[in-house]
Amino acid sequence: MQRVALHAAMQRVALQGRHLLSFSPSRFLSSHHMSTDAQAAIARLRDSGLLKSKGLVGGKWVDSYDGKTVQVQNPATGDVIANVPCMGKRETDDAISSAYNTFYSWSKRTASERSKCLRKWYDLIVSHKEDLALLITLEQGKPLKEALGEVSYGAAFIEFFAEEAKRIYGDIIPPTSSDRRLFVLKQPVGVVGAITPWNFPLAMITRKVGPALACGCTVIVKPSEYTPLTALAAADLALQAGIPPGALNVVMGNAPDIGDSLLQSTQVRKITFTGSTAVGKKLMAGSANTVKKVSLELGGNAPCIVFDDADLDVAVKGSLAAKFRNSGQTCVCANRILVQEGIYDEFANALTKAVQNLQVGNGLVEGVVQGPLINEAAVEKVEKFVNDATSKGANVILGGKRHSLGMTFYEPTILGNVNSEMLVSREEVFGPVAPLLPFKTEEEAIKIANDTNAGLAAYIFTKSIPRSWRVSEALEYGLVGVNEGLISTEVAPFGGAKQSGLGREGSKYGIDEYLELKYVCMGNLEA
Ligand code: SIN
Repeated sequence: MQRVALHAAMQRVALQGRHLLSFSPSRFLSSHHMSTDAQAAIARLRDSGLLKSKGLVGGKWVDSYDGKTVQVQNPATGDVIANVPCMGKRETDDAISSAYNTFYSWSKRTASERSKCLRKWYDLIVSHKEDLALLITLEQGKPLKEALGEVSYGAAFIEFFAEEAKRIYGDIIPPTSSDRRLFVLKQPVGVVGAITPWNFPLAMITRKVGPALACGCTVIVKPSEYTPLTALAAADLALQAGIPPGALNVVMGNAPDIGDSLLQSTQVRKITFTGSTAVGKKLMAGSANTVKKVSLELGGNAPCIVFDDADLDVAVKGSLAAKFRNSGQTCVCANRILVQEGIYDEFANALTKAVQNLQVGNGLVEGVVQGPLINEAAVEKVEKFVNDATSKGANVILGGKRHSLGMTFYEPTILGNVNSEMLVSREEVFGPVAPLLPFKTEEEAIKIANDTNAGLAAYIFTKSIPRSWRVSEALEYGLVGVNEGLISTEVAPFGGAKQSGLGREGSKYGIDEYLELKYVCMGNLEA
């Protein structure tokens, strides 16, 4: 039965195959590991040409030079869905050369030409949204509907920066003497190395590549080894959109080797990274030798503060969204829910009711809103944090253990009476655990909220406008949601304070990260 389904899927792939040369069924369909569900899912791809099993270097789809591959697994089932090249230094060096050689011509194109290519890329992403969402769910695990949301979110960065490409204005400065004219030019920084995470396989790429390409930079993307298929599909659409070979390269596999190659190269002028604080610090240190421009979007420890005067429904809905998006696997997920004494019981009960309704399972199944965690190590970490909290006095209100689905699934969990000493409060959980920390006063809440080295996102729930302003201003965070749990958008600056990062992504500010200012002084004009 499995074989029949596999055969049917492959036939369909062959019939629809747009890029047959780069499509190698054995790279994708390992009948030993692949469930019939996953085969059927792959067969649902409308454009099978989007399935790529090679890296992209200089516009060519290439294997690793030593033929080594890495497996891509579906976290919901453990099925191997693809084998992609395990690339390293040599492939990355070639990708860098290619990006470097393309930089001159791409940056010399007019803003309008670059904008048109990006707009076309946006249109192609949108017209392939179902396929991209399917790939995201298959390799990352998030529910299909949420994956579709990510595609729209990711595409929006390309659209936004296609528009911004035409608005990179310099300045004319009033001169200090009458025979001079002073200008500021904004020019692309050069070749960019973009290292992206698995939790948003598309959006974290477009948020970096959109502004980079818009202003004339060329890019080497290193997607997570867990989620390369979405990156490769997006890159394929970029080629189709007319983004020239070499302007966007994708290498994956041996992360330390790829990272070293990007860091050591004098041709790479910028590193942009989303991921853990520990790796971000290494990249920052590694960039020092060649003095690269760096943007980092690192870990968070988001407080979500529910005041007594909050609208209960709004607070529950907002906290639920802020906590359980992507099964708790985002850098902006509420990590600690601080609840004022007067509303604590009511809020805990209402949140529990809401969380009980979250259906857990394979993201391909209709109605599922909580997918798996990315791997078993992630589940072990969540387990460790929950055990630590309960051993120090927290009580399990809901969940608190692995899900009966096994493997990578953990029950949506609520912990009560958590305090700031527990691991769940001090470190980023990155899982479906909502720790409730009771507090008495606004001052106390602000103190607890700011008592961390992280400073990415924070949320507050209150009906008081003066309190909204006061607390928003007092929070040492890059993003604050007031009575909102989902605040990320392409039009607003995303980024952290303290050790949560450097620089901003999205919005009119996001493009500055890829630009260099050049001051031009024109003198002796009266000579
Ligand atoms: C992240 O988790 O790094 C990104 C989340 C977002 O863009 O909202």
